[in-house]
Amino acid sequence: MAQLSRLLMGLPLLLALLVAAEAAADPATGGSLSLARYTRVFAFGNSLTDTGNAAIFPATAKGPSTRPPYGQTYFGHPSGRASDGRLIIDFLVEELEVPLPTPYLAGRTAADFLDGANFALGGATALDPAFLASRGITSVVPISLGNETSWFVNVLQLLNSSGYDQRKITARSLFFVGEIGVNDYFLALMSKSADVAESLVPHIIGTIRSALTAMIGAGARTVVVTGMLPLGCEPKLLAMFPGGPGDYDPVSGCDARFNRIAVQHNRALKRMLWELRLRHPRRSFLYADVYRSVARAVASPARYGFGSKPLAACCGGGGGPYNFNYTAFCGTPKSTTCADPSEYISWDGIHLTEAAHEFIAHAMLGEVLSVVETGSRQA
Ligand SMILES: *[C@@H]1O[C@H](CO)[C@@H](O)[C@H](O)[C@H]1NC(C)=O
Ligand SMILES: *[C@@H]1O[C@H](CO)[C@@H](O)[C@H](O)[C@H]1NC(C)=O
Ligand SMILES: *[C@@H]1O[C@H](CO)[C@@H](O)[C@H](O)[C@H]1NC(C)=O
Repeated sequence: MAQLSRLLMGLPLLLALLVAAEAAADPATGGSLSLARYTRVFAFGNSLTDTGNAAIFPATAKGPSTRPPYGQTYFGHPSGRASDGRLIIDFLVEELEVPLPTPYLAGRTAADFLDGANFALGGATALDPAFLASRGITSVVPISLGNETSWFVNVLQLLNSSGYDQRKITARSLFFVGEIGVNDYFLALMSKSADVAESLVPHIIGTIRSALTAMIGAGARTVVVTGMLPLGCEPKLLAMFPGGPGDYDPVSGCDARFNRIAVQHNRALKRMLWELRLRHPRRSFLYADVYRSVARAVASPARYGFGSKPLAACCGGGGGPYNFNYTAFCGTPKSTTCADPSEYISWDGIHLTEAAHEFIAHAMLGEVLSVVETGSRQA
């Protein structure tokens, strides 16, 4: 059992999740050969994981993703997700055969959260607005990972006060931390510079660590933490911050200045997870890579079933290689939607298409984890 986390590092994520579920099962049933399952998911993050909170939160309730054509591919109407269809979390719960967690702001009673809760909110930052302000960075949506952690504590208290054993609940739950930090980096780029964005890396990783510590304290046994996307392949950043000729990757066309920040983020994240593993050998901390799958798809789109414009937004306007301009943001009168979103990686220049979410989810679940190949072991 003490070797569990070491073992899990070498397994594909899906298998690792099943092994971890088995280990997390009530010791009273130990020895049983039945396949242990997670009973629910608690999710955290931003618009990449949000299944309905931003559509309810007052500051974001009238956002673009509450209007068509969001949701057109799968739901047939806006579903509160910033995509044309489903997100990684949707494919993950399907694979694990657990219910889709209730968006936190859509629930009220303990019964609403027995199937888990999704605290992710579109626009959320990792860092608190006050910290960002201290760096001269203005946040737009005043919700951070710290708020999401408080919401989680609220749900546990609600469950506890309704007579549910909260530690039994957390032990059999999967904790999924979706990508978080992209909004912090973007806000830093908007109001400051790439150097300032890069200087946030250790703070963002420290904030994720605090959130994980709160989850562990509440009894979490299995936590999946998603890494950063290749920021330099995002149509919005490419359109808004043109670089010099030397900034672009000759194969993918992505901007190396921004990808470098994502690589640093992921390296620091993996190192932090490694350190948590040493500290808590009976828990599982799994790193979910999204960088590699997206970078590969952008560099060789045809090979992975995408069309010829991997750096362009499907929905939006402005034309050119990125088809991104805020004046024609997806869903506004000046915007248009591509004929086949499944040929695109980017849905609206910021968020991914359902096809990209599905591709990433399957790569994430099937690939061997690269947890600490690059992490230092000197500790
Ligand atoms: C978010 O967290 C900040 C700082 O702790 C707090 O002031 C604010 O009220 C929280 N917002 C919500 C909606 O919970
Ligand atoms: C759970 O509820 C009981 C009362 O039902 C209370 O004594 C206890 O402090 C609560 N625990 C937490 C962690 O809130
Ligand atoms: C966006 O569109 C506006 C109005 O058409 C134009 O003035 C502006 O230059 C465009 N911005 C970019 C980054 O292309």
